[in-house]
Amino acid sequence: MTNPGERPVRSWILHAPDRIEGSIRVPGDKSISHRSAILGAMAHGPTEIQGFLRGEDCLATLRALRALGAEITESGEGCIHVLGRGPEALCEPDTILDAGNSGTTLRLLAGLLAGRPFLSVLAGDASLRGRPMRRVVDPLTAMGATLWGRAGGQYPPLAIRGGELRGIAWTTPVPSAQVKSAILLAGVQASGETHVTEPLLSRDHTERMLTAFGLLARRQGRTVSISGKGRMRGIPLVVPGDISSAAFFLVAVAARPGAEILIQDVGVNPTRTGSLEVLRRMGASITEEHVRAEAGEPVADLHVRGAQLHGTTIEAELIPRLIDEVPALAVAAALAEGETFISGGAELRVKEVDRLAALAGELSKLGIPVAAGQDSLCITGAHPLRGGVVQSRGDHRMAMALAIAALFAQEEVRVEDVACVDTSFPGFARLLAEVAPGCGIQEITDAN
Ligand code: S3P
Repeated sequence: MTNPGERPVRSWILHAPDRIEGSIRVPGDKSISHRSAILGAMAHGPTEIQGFLRGEDCLATLRALRALGAEITESGEGCIHVLGRGPEALCEPDTILDAGNSGTTLRLLAGLLAGRPFLSVLAGDASLRGRPMRRVVDPLTAMGATLWGRAGGQYPPLAIRGGELRGIAWTTPVPSAQVKSAILLAGVQASGETHVTEPLLSRDHTERMLTAFGLLARRQGRTVSISGKGRMRGIPLVVPGDISSAAFFLVAVAARPGAEILIQDVGVNPTRTGSLEVLRRMGASITEEHVRAEAGEPVADLHVRGAQLHGTTIEAELIPRLIDEVPALAVAAALAEGETFISGGAELRVKEVDRLAALAGELSKLGIPVAAGQDSLCITGAHPLRGGVVQSRGDHRMAMALAIAALFAQEEVRVEDVACVDTSFPGFARLLAEVAPGCGIQEITDAN
């Protein structure tokens, strides 16, 4: 099991339900929650955040910001108040900043800390300590900060001595919102202009939120630019539901003819909605209703009706818009008629786990023919699936995708090591039991 000793080992046991239906809300968007707290701490004045995701990843960001001296209080379910006094008010932490499992916490805070004139150390769990950091170390070093990491700056922990920064024009080697955001958060504190160009457009929440906080982030094609030394103003904001969390319920319903669900208040930023496009292409009926905007982010209710899906091709250009939904989409592919081919997925090998290897290894245990290439996945639909024992490998999205697969299995499925789900979706099992009571989901703690 992944990270032995770091979490109690919990498993789910579940089986196919007779029906799935209802109207639900999923927890707040993880990316937007991180950014709202970080920008709130860098701004001047109060930022009130409703719907903040109280998952372990975002709580790690709050803890780190508090260790830097940010004033953050919580009132009621999910309402966070940040009283910002500008980045200059942040101070040297007297301990390491623990990002836990969260790449977003570590990389975005590296961008913020690159501009602060003190020493800080960012660390994480075993999974995070194996994830690539050169992609943020190089641009932040070029801007004038000093960074150290294991293996010549490749891996966490990262030690950062920040200081006076100058703006840069940087082209990222891979589409990555975490890298882009780290450079922009440093750019906000730098002299002059900062420009970031990506090979494909990644999620643009940072740009939208910087603009909502009063700094204009300008986009031209795949380049985003920001002027340094601007002053941000705190704002009230509402975090929409996370489409990456909604994706598990979308697939559970989309692949079951006759099923129907309404998922309310989901963020539908076009840089995140690749999974909706793919599921529609596969034959699902998904409509976006009551579309509105919250703090510069589009939000809608998603109405999904199930159908027999058919296989499709997910091309490389689409990957950044559905990067976190690949585990859920792989399950949709497993339930579809014919073959689904996913290409351009090299980044999936450096997520919480190597998701190409994990999907191929775990889905095949349920009788699904899956072949992983260097950056691709080929899945042959094999409905109905067989039962068995599968492993999350410590990855929250693997755990939830496998639970969705279990809803279509002929026999019981046991998904091992599910505590990791709390990183992005506390309450997932409860919500699943609500819309699919017949699945009998039970959580057990294994003796290890
Ligand atoms: C995120 C960006 C993505 C995504 C991650 C959250 C963010 O990572 O996979 O879950 O909030 O910026 P990359 O930017 O590394 O692709």
